[in-house]
Amino acid sequence: MSPPLSATHRSIQRIVRGRPTSDGAGVRLSRVIGSPDLDHLDPFLLLDEFGSERGADYIAGFPDHPHRGFETVTYMLAGRMEHRDHMGNHGELDAGSVQWMTAGRGIIHSEMPRQSDGLMRGFQLWVNLPAKDKMCEPRYQDIPPDAIPEVRLDGGGLVRIIAGEHGGERGAVSAIVTDPTYLDVHLPAGKGHEFQLPGDHQGLVYAYEGKGHFGEPATAVEKGQLGVLGAGESLRVTADNDELRFLLIAARPLREPIVRYGPFVMNSREQILEAVRDYQSGRFG
Ligand code: FE2
Repeated sequence: MSPPLSATHRSIQRIVRGRPTSDGAGVRLSRVIGSPDLDHLDPFLLLDEFGSERGADYIAGFPDHPHRGFETVTYMLAGRMEHRDHMGNHGELDAGSVQWMTAGRGIIHSEMPRQSDGLMRGFQLWVNLPAKDKMCEPRYQDIPPDAIPEVRLDGGGLVRIIAGEHGGERGAVSAIVTDPTYLDVHLPAGKGHEFQLPGDHQGLVYAYEGKGHFGEPATAVEKGQLGVLGAGESLRVTADNDELRFLLIAARPLREPIVRYGPFVMNSREQILEAVRDYQSGRFG
């Protein structure tokens, strides 16, 4: 028997499938947020999944490019990426690691594969910054795989806590202004689990392996699909016939004007023109 339904359970309001595209110097990827199907999901501006065993699909990487006004979150499932910026920061992202980069007033960086062949797979999420923080100092949180807390679930499965809280554990990433939750969840076939989220945060699930049923009423979401969550404090999830792997992401919406031009995301057209001028005249960072 199921417990009685409560008004605080979240439901799936909409399902979106990623669109194949290419970005950087020709990296093939699937764009899930930031496409004609889903322009943004406040405060999330973009979600890409990249994944291929063919070096030709990713070898060109993302050579020098700027960002201003938001945060980029790179989570690697497989492969290795190297990061360098114009201030001399340098890091390597291994499988299972995450980089939470607050671009703030400006970063010019490259994100390049450190392999020429073999599986490279991961995600990049863009999280908006509120107007008061768009011009903050750039900041990095580079978290190696073994520093991401993992909670094992009774009966199998695990939750990697990149940001937010689960099962009494706090995530690896701290002090992010939108107070995000970012969980990587693995559930064995047939296994169910319930997740708690701040009730007013915008939430989403993105299935990257298998298929499951999410929310009340239970709605199917399968590999390559994003489910937009309605409001509520808890989310029920059950894996179907195979292991289900998905990202559960949520954050406080900003409800501010969004004006975007490529890698610049500000609140007004004037601020975008200023960003382009600053970049072209070497006044970034
Ligand atoms: Fe970038």
